[in-house]
Amino acid sequence: MSQQLTLALSKGRIFEETMPLLRAAGIIVSEDPETSRKLILQTNDPDVRVIIVRASDVPTYVQYGAADFGVAGKDILLEHGGGGLYQPIDLNIARCRMSVAVSAGFDYARAVRHGARLRVATKYTETARQHFAAKGVHVDLIKLYGSMELAPLVGLSDAIVDVVSTGSTLRANNLVEVEEIMQISSRLVVNQAAMKMKRERLAPILAAFERASAAKQ
Ligand code: ATP
Ligand code: PRP
Repeated sequence: MSQQLTLALSKGRIFEETMPLLRAAGIIVSEDPETSRKLILQTNDPDVRVIIVRASDVPTYVQYGAADFGVAGKDILLEHGGGGLYQPIDLNIARCRMSVAVSAGFDYARAVRHGARLRVATKYTETARQHFAAKGVHVDLIKLYGSMELAPLVGLSDAIVDVVSTGSTLRANNLVEVEEIMQISSRLVVNQAAMKMKRERLAPILAAFERASAAKQ
């Protein structure tokens, strides 16, 4: 196996928050994905390149070995299932929480108490399914790919399951958070074969990531 390393990142907060960790490992990405249309970015290290993929696709690229390692939110990893991946480090970046939210006028506690069947719109169907099953609440899950906050406003659902950080998106849409499901942060994920075959090359980068993310806490 070549000792070339490919790191899968998504544009936006994951890319931006991973940059300081890469710098701590002596790696500088030569181009900015916000301005470049390129999907393969070179770095100052000829043996390390970065590929830009959708946040939800990071685990897939790493699982199949198209990338040796990547950075993905716990929310995304739970939906993917984590097969074929090592998850050695919680990087403590892109922190938010997964929550249930409803329209301000909807009495969620009462609906749950009365055993109502709830319609829940979410991109995170696996997490939502597990959460409501554990509570013994019957739900019809409606799969969405974004803008979940809209669903209760137009009668598509009673509730949503989505990530919340400042709460300003919920407030702007007159929604209220009624239940926190879990805290979310992003993890380093490593292809299982690469972890064995490229250990020598990966180890110092992983150690630098670990030190830098621990120092941030
Ligand atoms: P995709 O492009 O595949 O739909 P996405 O739009 O969820 O994914 P990002 O918005 O870049 O991708 O989010 C990447 C990760 O950052 C998420 O998986 C989640 O863990 C975390 N995250 C999402 N929203 C926030 C937020 N508002 N504040 C902090 N972290 C967040
Ligand atoms: C995410 C998520 C929420 C929002 C929550 O969307 O789907 O809509 O962030 O963040 P808040 O609680 O701080 O409002 P997105 O990735 O589009 O967020 P962004 O555009 O605000 O970065």
